[in-house]
Amino acid sequence: MLAARYPTSGPDAGTIRLETVPCPEPGVGEVLVAVVVSGVNPTDWKSRSGGAIAGGADIPWVIPNQDGAGVIVAVGDGVPADRVGERVWMWEAQWQRASGTAAEYIALPSTHAVPLPDHAGFDLGAGLGIPAMTAHHCLFADGRLGSGDQVLVQGGAGAVGHAAIELAVHAGARVAATVSGPEKAALAKAAGAELVVDYRTEDVAATVRAWAPDGVARIIEVDLARNIEDDAKVIADGGVIVVYARTFDAVTPPPALMASNASIAFMLIYKIPQTAKFAALEGVVAALAEGALTELPSTRFTLADAGSAHDAVEGSVVGKVLIDVAPPTEVPDSQD
Ligand SMILES: NC(=O)c1ccc[n+]([C@@H]2O[C@H](COP(=O)([O-])OP(=O)(O)OC[C@H]3O[C@@H](n4cnc5c(N)ncnc54)[C@H](OP(=O)(O)O)[C@@H]3O)[C@@H](O)[C@H]2O)c1
Repeated sequence: MLAARYPTSGPDAGTIRLETVPCPEPGVGEVLVAVVVSGVNPTDWKSRSGGAIAGGADIPWVIPNQDGAGVIVAVGDGVPADRVGERVWMWEAQWQRASGTAAEYIALPSTHAVPLPDHAGFDLGAGLGIPAMTAHHCLFADGRLGSGDQVLVQGGAGAVGHAAIELAVHAGARVAATVSGPEKAALAKAAGAELVVDYRTEDVAATVRAWAPDGVARIIEVDLARNIEDDAKVIADGGVIVVYARTFDAVTPPPALMASNASIAFMLIYKIPQTAKFAALEGVVAALAEGALTELPSTRFTLADAGSAHDAVEGSVVGKVLIDVAPPTEVPDSQD
């Protein structure tokens, strides 16, 4: 099969090339998926450039990308044969494994290949794994977000931010989102944000406080160092700021956070407990089934150009970056 992969050591470490490699076979409890679309996330280029967080030790080469969508073409022992032919989306496909979704086929645990409802296309499916599960965990893991609660999503046009708006709205919460520029404002609005604030040109704290006089119950935070002053001004008493993106700048918590009995929580999707992963998965599956999740506009690449796809994510292109691996019409019914 064709795969985009890179060596993990040597002079070409991290350089993605299209190669012909053996097609994997599904092991016990695994399915073999013919990939239609591979989704790229920041984690994919970050781990390629030395972070190794997603790879694990002693892997000589990596086929990148955690997310993707495709069709099950074979099953291993212990997996019902009637899963063959199922359209699926994949999550944590390459977490602690060598092979992700940037290939024509991937074998992975059957629980990581989740049925796509009829109304959901492969593009939507390929953008769910990391962003939607992260967003769900940020919003609901502590069980404290109620219907009617007001939420601030910092970075509402990003992949995680977009999913956070849609999942919060689906749960009955009211959402304000920050963005930069009109293009991103339109995306946040379309996702369901009631209030959209351009953090480059508007006073975020004053605008959000006017919208939520008692403060927001929860903030989903993409850039704590830059936003903590505003967060402290708008968080409600007992509110929670959940931080999902790494910040490299020093953060000084403003005293107002103590006065409002606020909490700051950090999360890394790979490292949350397995039970929490499946709770997030269940929530995403339910929202997807009810049509609450939509796809961002995409910038597309071929499998041969997977390196450029990673560069586009690193360059913060607006929307999702997707790799077209195979047209769905060419996916075989079974892999003999
Ligand atoms: N902890 C985890 O488990 C986890 C999971 C997923 C992603 N992440 C990390 O989270 C980050 C975002 O991931 P993503 O896939 O959502 O990326 P993305 O699609 O590129 O979205 C990031 C968004 O944040 C916005 N942004 C940047 N700085 C901002 C600020 N100061 N205030 C408000 N918005 C701001 C960006 O737009 P502008 O720059 O135009 O404002 C962009 O829309 C990445 O660093 C990724 O590695 C972590």
